[in-house]
Amino acid sequence: MSNRVAVVPGSFDPPTLGHLDIVRRAAALYDETHVLVVHNPDKEGMLPIALRMQLLEQAIAEAGITGRVIVGSWSVGLLVDYAQEVGAGVLVKGIRSQQDVAYETPMAVVNNHLAGVETVFLLADPANSVVSSSLVRQVASLGGDVSPYVPGAVSQYLKGATPSEF
Ligand code: PNS
Repeated sequence: MSNRVAVVPGSFDPPTLGHLDIVRRAAALYDETHVLVVHNPDKEGMLPIALRMQLLEQAIAEAGITGRVIVGSWSVGLLVDYAQEVGAGVLVKGIRSQQDVAYETPMAVVNNHLAGVETVFLLADPANSVVSSSLVRQVASLGGDVSPYVPGAVSQYLKGATPSEF
């Protein structure tokens, strides 16, 4: 396992500017960064996984994020299985609040117990402290403008989508 390879996992449903900032910063820290769309069976989900990946790829390209960034998906087995498969010793997560710390702590501890994988927490830019995928889903589904919170590619997609697609 290498500490030069990192995984940035999440639901990315949809990707937000907060996610993109964490991906940009992870890509600057690690030689290879896997942005991993993880299917969470506890969450019903708005966008198909393949579309989340496509929007992430577009957003990463549009943001001019440099370095080796690979967008992937994972729906079977543990997240650390994927990390081991690609030789990643680190998971990178963004932290906006104490609530995020409380949510992330058990996962970080268990992932370390399971496979020795470390979790690196990057503090979110305060500009993104209120940005979440769930808020974006809610505002978009009620016809509100989410362009301040999401990359251009996501904003464009959501503008063209009908509420039944949310
Ligand atoms: O964007 P989200 O929904 O907060 O991301 C949560 C995610 C996908 C990172 C989390 O659900 C996760 O790590 N899932 C992988 C399942 C797993 O490996 N669980 C056991 C160790 S915690």
